[in-house]
Amino acid sequence: MVQLTDLAHQIVAEHLRTGDIAIDATCGNGHDTLFLSQAVGDSGAVIACDVQQSAINATRLRCEGQKNIQYHCGDHAEALRSLAEQYKAEVAAVMFNLGYLPGGDKTKTTSLASTVAALKSSLVLMRPAGIISVLAYIGHPGGQAEETAVNEKFNSWSHSGKIEILHRPDSQLSDRSPRLYIGKKI
Ligand SMILES: C[S@@+](CC[C@H](N)C(=O)[O-])C[C@H]1O[C@@H](n2cnc3c(N)ncnc32)[C@H](O)[C@@H]1O
Repeated sequence: MVQLTDLAHQIVAEHLRTGDIAIDATCGNGHDTLFLSQAVGDSGAVIACDVQQSAINATRLRCEGQKNIQYHCGDHAEALRSLAEQYKAEVAAVMFNLGYLPGGDKTKTTSLASTVAALKSSLVLMRPAGIISVLAYIGHPGGQAEETAVNEKFNSWSHSGKIEILHRPDSQLSDRSPRLYIGKKI
């Protein structure tokens, strides 16, 4: 079975070119940052954001030798709000992998309010045909409400013609499986 993290990389990679700007809004252990860094190449740029310094450190370690990454330790709602002033409609991909840091403090999870605010800024940041990918988890406290908010945001963007949905969770999912949402800006 294909892992949703791999599926996200596969779909995002189809829309990235050398020289692009990409954002990892929850860099965690750095898997998505390394993927984005390799996909955009030395002429591109990746902004890796995480609220925990331990995650920034883990990402730096995984991405050692990659010269196109800028690190930002802080809340992604604030980071993306200020980046939206600098990189309005320039960003090729924004990736979110919600929840807690694997191997870290499981109580330090993403939260509904800052995730929704960061999603709104992402739409401002994305260029036409830019991609947004959100992997959400419902097994931890607050996870279900956060996933519902992500689902509503993708639905409203889709209905108002702001994004084309490229991937959404299977509506038959009844267990605690992760949920992957991917959209392309129109
Ligand atoms: C599932 S992990 C990310 C995994 C990562 N994408 C990878 O490839 O290893 C979720 C991350 O979100 C971070 N996080 C939680 N709240 C955040 C916030 N408000 N802003 C930015 N990062 C946050 C956590 O610290 C954690 O590292």
